[in-house]
Amino acid sequence: MEKLIIKGGKPLNGSISISGAKNAVVAIIPAALLIEGKCVIENVPCIDDVSVITDILSQLGAKIRLINKHTIEIDSTNIETCKADHTMVSKMRASYYLMGALLGRFNHALVSMPGGCDLGPRPVDQHLKGFRALGAKIDDDNGYYELTADELVGGHIFFDIVSVGATINVMLAAVKAHGITIIENAAKEPHIVDVANFLNSMGANIKGAGTDVIKIKGVDCLKGGTYSVTPDYVEAGTYMLMTAGTGGNVLIKDVIPKHLESITAKLKEIGATVNEYDDSIQVISTKRLAPARVKTLPYPGFPTDLQPLITTLLSVSNGTSIVTEAVWESRFRYVDELRRMGANITVEKSVAVIEGIEELSGCPVKSHDLRAGAAMVMAGLMANGTTEVTELQYIDRGYEDLEGKLTSLGADIRRIEDKTPSTTSKAN
Ligand code: UD1
Repeated sequence: MEKLIIKGGKPLNGSISISGAKNAVVAIIPAALLIEGKCVIENVPCIDDVSVITDILSQLGAKIRLINKHTIEIDSTNIETCKADHTMVSKMRASYYLMGALLGRFNHALVSMPGGCDLGPRPVDQHLKGFRALGAKIDDDNGYYELTADELVGGHIFFDIVSVGATINVMLAAVKAHGITIIENAAKEPHIVDVANFLNSMGANIKGAGTDVIKIKGVDCLKGGTYSVTPDYVEAGTYMLMTAGTGGNVLIKDVIPKHLESITAKLKEIGATVNEYDDSIQVISTKRLAPARVKTLPYPGFPTDLQPLITTLLSVSNGTSIVTEAVWESRFRYVDELRRMGANITVEKSVAVIEGIEELSGCPVKSHDLRAGAAMVMAGLMANGTTEVTELQYIDRGYEDLEGKLTSLGADIRRIEDKTPSTTSKAN
């Protein structure tokens, strides 16, 4: 195993480019199963989740060709099995997209139940409700969901809660269903729009993605083509918050500033300067920031995936902040690590009360999940002294070259071999 050694206290300065969106690409790659032919996907981030999902597609019989570091070709002409086994599926939560994609292509999917959870219960009842509305029958025996349909027929689905995964999964299943599917109370995240754009560019007929009503007119087949993945607004938000936390000045390039509005607004509210350009955003912070109230919400609200980072930022603000987690039940486990660095944070159910302190002190901390791992790195950059961050497998799942990008911004961060045995778990 490896760990990061961070010597804190250096402001981040310079410019970096943002990679393709993890949460889009982990859905677009399974979506390629719907295409009876080849597609080329560009701006694919170099992250472990991409390796896992492409390995799963290979096991199913798809041919994957790496064209260059950020471009892959997927040929799903000859899929040999509709069974995605437990070993691979348990490595990433987003493998639940195999259900919608295989069902949509073959009217049959046998997919191991996605593994345990880090953020609280992660049910898939809304995904299943959507599949049933299209005519699928579902058995859940022996740790597998088996989905079958004689024919998928468009249906009308009103989700009980706003779910990113269920919205995308039902879109995948409905793309080739007979007739029209309407999804109401759909999630609106940029990755939902990106998956719809990908499918439309391959011949699908999806309208309304990015609003809370999505209409899908089933088509007979999807042809191949080339598609470029949207920039990762969570990665961009991560660097925005890290820049603010270290009192730096960074131009974050290759972004869609509109996707970042909730973060921009919060940073301005607490005293940072944020300049928006066509496809880049600059964050400048020169003073101790003010406290704030933050509540995570589905897009366009403040993203739950950046909650650990804003909490870390506010841990050294000038007063008392309140952060409410309204999406996941257990997303404050990392707070114990921040407390070891001196943060004064109390958590009561889904609310964290943060009394801002002068500065964090470096110490050994571990990543609890992907975004909490990024928050630990951020805490290390902000802290006085040296911080060691372990359990890097989470960070590697979703951030392309985190320490390389940070080093280019002047951070003192390096990765070394860690002899301590790791604990294992799953993540988002
Ligand atoms: C996706 C993101 C994750 C992000 C989350 C919320 C990916 C790969 N992951 O996860 O990073 O934190 O959106 O923005 O894109 N729920 C149900 N029943 C369901 C589905 C969800 O009750 O069938 C609940 C969940 O428990 C959670 C909430 O709905 O409380 C939101 O979950 P959802 O939007 O589905 O998250 P994911 O798609 O798993």
